[in-house]
Amino acid sequence: MIKPHGSDTLNALYIEDDTARAALAAEAEELPSLLLNSAAAANAVMLAGGYFNPLTGFMNLADALSVAEHMRTENGLFFPVPIVNLTNEDWVEAGSRIALRDPNVDGNPVLAVMDVSSVENVSKEQIDFMAEKIFRTLDTNHPGVATFNDLGNTMIAGDIQVLNFSYFRSDFPDTFRTAVEIRAEIEANGWNKVVAFQTRNPMHRAHEELCRMAMEQLDADGILIHMLLGKLKPGDIPADVRDASIRKMVDVYFPPNTVMVTGYGFDMLYAGPREAVLHAVFRQNCGCTHLIVGRDHAGVGDYYGGFDAQTIFEEEVPDDALELEIFSADHTAYSKKLGKVVMMRDVPDHNKDDFVLLSGTAVREMLGKGIAPPPEFSRPEVAKILSDYYQSLDA
Ligand code: ADX
Repeated sequence: MIKPHGSDTLNALYIEDDTARAALAAEAEELPSLLLNSAAAANAVMLAGGYFNPLTGFMNLADALSVAEHMRTENGLFFPVPIVNLTNEDWVEAGSRIALRDPNVDGNPVLAVMDVSSVENVSKEQIDFMAEKIFRTLDTNHPGVATFNDLGNTMIAGDIQVLNFSYFRSDFPDTFRTAVEIRAEIEANGWNKVVAFQTRNPMHRAHEELCRMAMEQLDADGILIHMLLGKLKPGDIPADVRDASIRKMVDVYFPPNTVMVTGYGFDMLYAGPREAVLHAVFRQNCGCTHLIVGRDHAGVGDYYGGFDAQTIFEEEVPDDALELEIFSADHTAYSKKLGKVVMMRDVPDHNKDDFVLLSGTAVREMLGKGIAPPPEFSRPEVAKILSDYYQSLDA
């Protein structure tokens, strides 16, 4: 099976042993506690599940700046995005042990315990430097930049031990999985070649066919549909609705035992190319051999070129950085001429009118009025679930 990123075995920071975890939880109640922001809490959940292997906690400023600049920590580990705990609190001391509290669960229970190795002030210039490298813009209309700018200017670094998976296990019991669990499931399925499909949206025909094309062209044993379950920008479709629509599509249109429908607990960064590389790192940790990267992967607005998230792998990711490979997909849409979903690069004789192309806004408007998008665009079963959701917003 493909190795995790950066180590031979997966290092998940959740404390599995019940007795050890109970002891840690009891100790945590006596420790000074820091209320995390959602981004840091999401990092802790990803670390807990083994997704950010081989990291053992939050990065310090030198590593964060180095990772932002050239995707390597100071000691050379390849990592695409700084994994940091930024706060506005100023009382934490280096060398102390603190409890990290969860901002996303009522009562702010302890999420993790941290051995603080350093507490550093981050200047506005350093925040901007990192934001510009991660997001390729400093425009505060970019949702990722806006969030990053507001995290705080004190960086608290150190190893963590995690007590739970925040709200993800309870809210998405059938869908949330750790990287450890996904690896185990892939192994139990006897799959060798596994393609991951990253998504934060419901899946329409183009997405469905993209998965099928990747499966066929790579001769893969299975596909991991792996949806983001954390926070999104306003207007994006909530995870439970996406989950229901994706499950329906898989049930009706995919052969049994070829697809795993799963999700991970992370807030969307909207960092386009850098986030695509992060996606690749954590899918390798899950045991996947390939990741589909299509048009405007992890993008938002028009901050990124349609295929920047593919070219970063060619231009900036060294050959030996990752074992997982990218399945690069061109813009995919239904061809009226051929009566099937195709990649545009495969049909050079087509012009725009030969495809069924609908903007996100047009689809939302149709669904909101109870009008199903054409079956060439969206499966009726999927359209029904989305339409019920949009109409419930107006009710
Ligand atoms: S993402 O932010 O999670 O990447 P989304 O769920 O929209 O967004 O996309 C999931 C994956 O499908 C990404 O790899 C994206 O590039 C790809 N994708 C979405 N729509 C298309 C399309 N029409 N053609 C090609 N690739 C697409």
